[in-house]
Amino acid sequence: MWILVLIIIVLAGALSAFILFFSIPPKTENPQRAVISVVKLPDPDLNGNMSVEQAIQNRRSVREYSNKSLSLKDISQLMWSAQGITDKQNNFRAAPSSGRTYPLELYLVVGKAGVEGVEEGIYRYNNTNHELEKLLSGDKRAELSKSANGQAAVASAPVDIVITGSYQRTMAKYGNNNLSIRFVHLEAGHAGENIYLEATARSLVTVSIGSFNENTVKTLLNLPADENTIYIFPVGFSKPE
Ligand SMILES: Cc1cc2nc3c(=O)[nH]c(=O)nc-3n(C[C@H](O)[C@H](O)[C@H](O)COP(=O)(O)O)c2cc1C
Repeated sequence: MWILVLIIIVLAGALSAFILFFSIPPKTENPQRAVISVVKLPDPDLNGNMSVEQAIQNRRSVREYSNKSLSLKDISQLMWSAQGITDKQNNFRAAPSSGRTYPLELYLVVGKAGVEGVEEGIYRYNNTNHELEKLLSGDKRAELSKSANGQAAVASAPVDIVITGSYQRTMAKYGNNNLSIRFVHLEAGHAGENIYLEATARSLVTVSIGSFNENTVKTLLNLPADENTIYIFPVGFSKPE
C-alpha cells in the first residue's frame, strides 16, 4: 500500500516538473540588445526660463526643423521631463504611473549631427543612471519615417523620441484586460505632454506622431517582445521663416 502511495507521489512530482518545464518559454537573449556604449547626460536643470503657463500657452505642433543640432543638455531635459527619476528615495518619476507599474521606455533615434558630440544611432534612456545606452549604430530616421507613413517630420528632425510601453508590466498588477492597455496609453500621453512643454520651454519644437506601423517600428528598434511602440516625437529647432 505504502509503495503504491510513494509511486503515485513520485509520478505526480515528475508530471508537475514536466508541465512546469514545458509551459515556461525559454528566456531568449537578444544579442543586438547589448549596450554598445553609454552617453552620460548632464544633471537636469530645475530652473528654466519659462513658466509652465507660458509653455502651455506657446506649445504648438511643428513639423519642419532647421539643421541645428541639439545639445546634450537639451536631450537631458527632454528625457528627464518624460521619464526622469524625480524622487530617488522612492523612485518616483516625472510622469505619473498607474499603480507605479512603470510600463514606459524611451528611445532616442539620433540622426547624423543630430546631437552635439553624439554619434547617430538608436539609444535607450536609462533613467536610473540618467544616461543613454547605445543599442544600434547608424542614422535610422529615414526608416522610422517610412514606418510612419513617410511623415517628413520624422526623417528631418535631428532626433526622434520613441515612447514604448510594456502592457505586461501593467497587466501584472491590473490583469490581462483593456483597463491595463488603457492605463499604458494614458501614461504615454502624460510623458508626451511633458516632452511638448519641456521642448517649448527650451525653444525647441515637436509634434506628437501617433500614426505609424507599430510592428515595423518594433523591428527597427529591435524592441524586446513585451514592448510596443506607442508614440513618436520628432524634436528640433524651428525652421526660420
Ligand atoms: C494621439 C495623437 C496623434 C497624433 N498623430 C499625429 C501624426 O501622426 N502626425 C502629425 O503630423 N500630427 C499628429 N498629431 C498632432 C495633431 O495633428 C495636432 O496636435 C493638432 O493638429 C493640433 O495642433 P497643436 O498640437 O499645435 O495644438 C497627433 C496628436 C495626437 C494627440
